[in-house]
Amino acid sequence: MTTALDLLALGPDFTRNPYPVYADLRARGPVHRVVVPEGAEAWLVVGYEAGRAALADPRLSKVWGNAAPSLKAMRVSAGLSLLSSDPPVHTRLRRTVAREFTTRRVSAMAPRVREIVADLVGTMAAKPSRRADLVESLAFPLPMTVICELLGVPFLDRAAFRGWSNDVVAATAEHTRMDAAAALKDYLVGLISAKRDRRGEDLLSALIHTADEDGDQLSAEELLGMAWVLLVAGHETTVNLISNGVLALLTHPEQLAALRADPDGLLDGAVEEILRYDGPVETPTYRFTVEPVEIGGTVIPGDGRLVLIAIADADRDPARFPDPDRFDIRRDARGHIAFGHGIHYCVGAPLARLEARIALRGLLDAFPNLALDANPAELQWRGGVMMRGPRQLPVRW
Ligand code: HEM
Repeated sequence: MTTALDLLALGPDFTRNPYPVYADLRARGPVHRVVVPEGAEAWLVVGYEAGRAALADPRLSKVWGNAAPSLKAMRVSAGLSLLSSDPPVHTRLRRTVAREFTTRRVSAMAPRVREIVADLVGTMAAKPSRRADLVESLAFPLPMTVICELLGVPFLDRAAFRGWSNDVVAATAEHTRMDAAAALKDYLVGLISAKRDRRGEDLLSALIHTADEDGDQLSAEELLGMAWVLLVAGHETTVNLISNGVLALLTHPEQLAALRADPDGLLDGAVEEILRYDGPVETPTYRFTVEPVEIGGTVIPGDGRLVLIAIADADRDPARFPDPDRFDIRRDARGHIAFGHGIHYCVGAPLARLEARIALRGLLDAFPNLALDANPAELQWRGGVMMRGPRQLPVRW
């Protein structure tokens, strides 16, 4: 057996552009032993078919109790959530959130999302320098504002919250991740208790209310987990969808021109292509084997091994998407697994799509000559292998 590939040792080139490394691995087979940036050994699944199958494989558990003892120090404690449970607990939690986080609630957000985008873009346009960091000006504040309003977070200290949340998903130093997680957890416990006392019309109140009055109760730990996962998943990902999308468009002028010429016809497809070509989630949350799992002739032992699924590679697999490294907003990108697959399929996909479409449309309409204000090769990318997006995205107009 070959030694495990140390992903952190691949350095900043890998963080900036992991696709060729994954493609090389894929050429050798669908599963490989790696060392993740947190230092633990894991099994990395690459390729579309293997990745999609692994996402829905019940032998890959999301429950930390099933992780091998050596992995448990990596655990970020955040209540019991959709992303850390298997059926039947997961089924119950998912039913509860599905009851409250409805398409109707999301569609009702559209006018408010347009308003927020108009405000943010207006603030950008008023800058005499005609320059801005797109992450700071739009990609981050939009999803953050939306998820806070949706959940009913009134006086959130956004700067602090953003720091904790960023560190939880992308810090490589273990103690930084753990400290951030603890701070975020304290914050959410306080928020839930405030909402128990003073109920609003928001989603979090609805989830608490469901817990209070329905047979299907959410425990305190489950409410914490739900608030955590919605808040963190609700903006850490969407920020990257908007930034990666703007970056892809600005570095592919012919695609940008086509989109500008026919936004009504091409915008929805462009968002799907952005999700496929450079999606926000490089590898989703951890899974642990509860039985031996054979993938492409390799058997991963069944004793709680950590399994990572390279969604980023699956969506660049030529066996599924012809000429996969070409960014082409007219291609049929449907079938991408940027939002996952199976029972853990993203709850927030409709909201993420809504925000991305409105943000891109608002931005392109406001700035007919928007351009990148940096060398794309010199952008700093977020660390770790879970999230993929630039830390800053300087633009000018
Ligand atoms: C472009 C933006 C987004 C992307 C790419 C994305 C991606 C994903 C992926 C890949 C998963 C599956 C994780 C796994 O199987 O381990 C997932 C699950 C989830 N996402 Fe998203 N997400 C996005 C936006 C959102 C938003 C806006 C929300 C909430 C407001 C959200 C809430 C969730 C939740 C609650 C789950 C867990 C579902 C479950 O385990 O049943 N996501 N997301």
